[in-house]
Amino acid sequence: MCGIVGYVGPKEAWPILISGLKRLEYRGYDSAGVAIMGDKGLQVSKCKGRVADLEAHVGKKGLKGTVGIGHTRWATHGEPNDVNAHPHTSANGELALIHNGIIENYATLKEELIKRGYVFRSETDTEVLVHLIDDIQRTEGTDLAESVRLALLNVVGAYAIVVVDAKSPDMLVAARKSSPLVIGIGNDGDHFLASDATPIVEHTRNVVYMEDGEIAIIEKEKGLRVRNIKNQELRPSVQALEIQLETLEKGGYDHFMLKEINEQPRSIRDSMRGRLNIAGSEVVLGGIKDYEQKFVNAKRILVVGCGTSWHAGMVGEYLFEEFARIPVEVEYASEFRYRDPVINEDDIVIAISQSGETADTLAAIELAKSRGATIIGICNVVGSSIARITHAGSYTHAGPEIGVASTKAFTAQVTLLTLMALMIGHRKGTIDGARFQQLLLELDAIPAKVERVLKTEAQIKYIAEIYKDARNALYLGRGYCFPVALEGALKLKEISYIHAEGYPAAEMKHGPIALIDEEMPVFVIATQGASYEKVVSNIQEVKARKGKVIAIVTEGDTVVKAIADHTIEIPASPDALVPLLAVVPLQLISYHIAVMRGCNVDQPRNLAKSVTVE
Ligand code: F6R
Repeated sequence: MCGIVGYVGPKEAWPILISGLKRLEYRGYDSAGVAIMGDKGLQVSKCKGRVADLEAHVGKKGLKGTVGIGHTRWATHGEPNDVNAHPHTSANGELALIHNGIIENYATLKEELIKRGYVFRSETDTEVLVHLIDDIQRTEGTDLAESVRLALLNVVGAYAIVVVDAKSPDMLVAARKSSPLVIGIGNDGDHFLASDATPIVEHTRNVVYMEDGEIAIIEKEKGLRVRNIKNQELRPSVQALEIQLETLEKGGYDHFMLKEINEQPRSIRDSMRGRLNIAGSEVVLGGIKDYEQKFVNAKRILVVGCGTSWHAGMVGEYLFEEFARIPVEVEYASEFRYRDPVINEDDIVIAISQSGETADTLAAIELAKSRGATIIGICNVVGSSIARITHAGSYTHAGPEIGVASTKAFTAQVTLLTLMALMIGHRKGTIDGARFQQLLLELDAIPAKVERVLKTEAQIKYIAEIYKDARNALYLGRGYCFPVALEGALKLKEISYIHAEGYPAAEMKHGPIALIDEEMPVFVIATQGASYEKVVSNIQEVKARKGKVIAIVTEGDTVVKAIADHTIEIPASPDALVPLLAVVPLQLISYHIAVMRGCNVDQPRNLAKSVTVE
């Protein structure tokens, strides 16, 4: 939600800020803006639309100057337009500020500032910050860094901010609370700021991840200083980035989403690398090694996440119950955090998040942690907030996921949950040795099977062409494939804007069956496994009402083929591993339908990749 960038150094800031904003555009893309210190003072340019619109608005030459900030917005307060776009400036144009997050007490602060004579131009919550800092500078006579600190003492909410001040032209001041901010330390005495490391990696691999409550002061001459909100100097800890630059490019694909779907054989393999030891018949998850015994003793596992990560968590529920015989409750982080959940000290909470920055998941973790639970993270983004606040965890190693619709992150999360459940089951003795070894072999075979599934793309495109104009769609699955049905429906609605619902197949007759007519495509996961016959009956029920059935079946299936309108074959696999295969055709069908409908697949309307507001 909103991407922010900053630059201080010897080079021209404009091209660095613009290319940084393009990398962060997945975080929000309804308006963009920059503020750059020029010879004659602060130059601010902003407009509704994408970063490319901002470039066109400013013109080929860009803005001159070597200190600047930039922002790409996902609107919370105030519609996307030129005025509400960031940066926001003080009345005299000397201060400019960008913000990611929400200022919860903005209304009270705004009222006080209006009484003090400040005039507001935008409808945003952010604008209060710039006037508040300006007011403190005037009344207290403090420098920029101290004024920012004093202002933040009055602020309730979440923020990552960067401020530039014409009175201190060689300086940027940044601060964070609950929204991410990374500082890159360049080789030429330059410093970069960004919401995540992707705009920084092409300039330097040395980064400092800012912590909550920290304020960074970056000056051309003096470099970087970090203080906390109590004004104590801190020593920043510099870490090395491991992202490869080519993973941030489309690599010949039309869209990031298609690239990421096709990367899954590799990303699933990377999630297992060094963890799946077939010869030694063991699973090794170094990141949670110290907590293995806690897992073994756990009376209960709670899983928290949002969206696709929540769906992966549901697959995790089936996995842990089957293999480790531990009861599991899967919770929407946003609901969990506002209930008064019963949490015990011997509970394990698994927090799942691709970005590692989702505000609701972070808050759910804080709550569970404060009540003594052990928190295990499953994150994709290295160094992200969730990865840092959990007690232990495992990275998915899926590589940067840039398409807003999550694809390879889901299969990587499910792979890790499978490894965890098998490891704990093996340790507890709730899964026998022969079956354990068999499942390790089956898991190892999954990447090659995903490659086979990807070969069905031409057939999937043909099916997409037939159903691209549907107004509604239903997704059905049972057992391990119920969460896959939910995920298939989410993929379709978020990128093609077709209304879609996922249901446990047997629940259909308790309501959704009323929706079925000849217009309704029904996607059914009907692979040969524990509930195959039951799902076949559900397909018959749909066909009896003239619904159109598109079934995901096991290779060689003849029964479903005879009754469904279309079938897509996937290789045979144990039930527990079918989600890793069955989700792939559903991702592809959503992708092709969305492309055929002319939708912006990588940046669907109203969505943003990293949901840092609640
Ligand atoms: C769906 C999607 C979202 C995310 C959700 C959680 O395609 O991308 O539903 O899964 O916002 O995000 P993370 O996993 O970053 O916590």
